[in-house]
Amino acid sequence: MINMEGGRIFPPTEQNIEIAADILKEGGLVAFPTETVYGLGANGLDGAACSLIYKAKGRPSDNPLILHISSVEMLEMLCCDIPKEAYSLTQKFWPGALTLVLKKSDIVPHIVSAGLDTVAVRMPSHPVALDLIRRAGLPIAAPSANISGRPSPTTALHVDGDFGEDLGFILEGGQCDVGLESTVLSLAVSPPRLLRPGGVTAEEIEEVIGSIDIDRAVLGEIEKGSIPSSPGMKYRHYAPKGELYLVEGDPSAVTDFMKAKKNAVLLCLESDAASFEGYNVITLGRDLGEAAHNIFAALRTADDIGATEIYCPVPKREGLGLALYNRLIKAAGHRVIRV
Ligand code: TXA
Ligand code: MG
Repeated sequence: MINMEGGRIFPPTEQNIEIAADILKEGGLVAFPTETVYGLGANGLDGAACSLIYKAKGRPSDNPLILHISSVEMLEMLCCDIPKEAYSLTQKFWPGALTLVLKKSDIVPHIVSAGLDTVAVRMPSHPVALDLIRRAGLPIAAPSANISGRPSPTTALHVDGDFGEDLGFILEGGQCDVGLESTVLSLAVSPPRLLRPGGVTAEEIEEVIGSIDIDRAVLGEIEKGSIPSSPGMKYRHYAPKGELYLVEGDPSAVTDFMKAKKNAVLLCLESDAASFEGYNVITLGRDLGEAAHNIFAALRTADDIGATEIYCPVPKREGLGLALYNRLIKAAGHRVIRV
């Protein structure tokens, strides 16, 4: 489909959201905005439609999808044995950036859960996403709308840049608020286990349901031969085209080390930018929250300016810093330089 300007990005008018809902009902793909990142959606109850997602992204078939819903009734249709913690969490954080992994019901196609007996579900808060789900009347299966391995898209242009004419319909919804993906929490194990840090922090979850486990893969590499709790953990992710290195150590030593990298692109918080005057700097914002919001766009900007080497200080692993750290170590292929 081509819009009036000959492009594939459509403003989120009622009419266009209705068209997108029809494409989904007919088994096709559309990209749509959420508050975290853009999603590549298909009818989550239609296995054949969902297989198109894997094909378009080049996604490994053992990496399951998240189902996006607009009501708690939909949750109860998709999941079994829902524990009371799920309701406490949905009450507090839905609609929003929290994905819950629960035991799946029989109506969830195999391909969505990649053969697991659990399914990941979330209710997004972006009004365009909610409207689309309601109009389609279906759970929408949607991974981030990027080619597998690339940084997740936080604008419609990022999506179009990755797929080009292979994806005909992208709903425009502005820049994503959160800027990195939802938190994935499994309630199918006891105690609950954080599988991916994201828009809702571990500290915020613990305030509601008490202590949770943080999966080891969130912070480090997965040991060879072990089975990860979340299949997505084992793949290199979010990688820019250039080589990204994280730098860890005393702040002044980190600055000195990065200052020796005259030809590289340096990522840093605004407060540190003054130390790198005359360098190729991409600032990530004023604090960890802004840095989380800007990180994927920054990695894409590094690509756009042809960066071959990129250096970034290791962020603090608390609050949104945990999610930022998790995305950075994956984007860097776990290359951390200790100075
Ligand atoms: O914010 C988000 O969550 C975005 C937007 C579009 O909603 N979606 C997203 O989807 O990030 P994706 O496919 O890029 O990431 C889904 C993650 C993967 O790491 C996958 O392995 C994990 O969730 N996952 C899905 N189902 C699972 C399950 N049943 N058990 C464990 N992990 C699961
Ligand atoms: Mg993704």
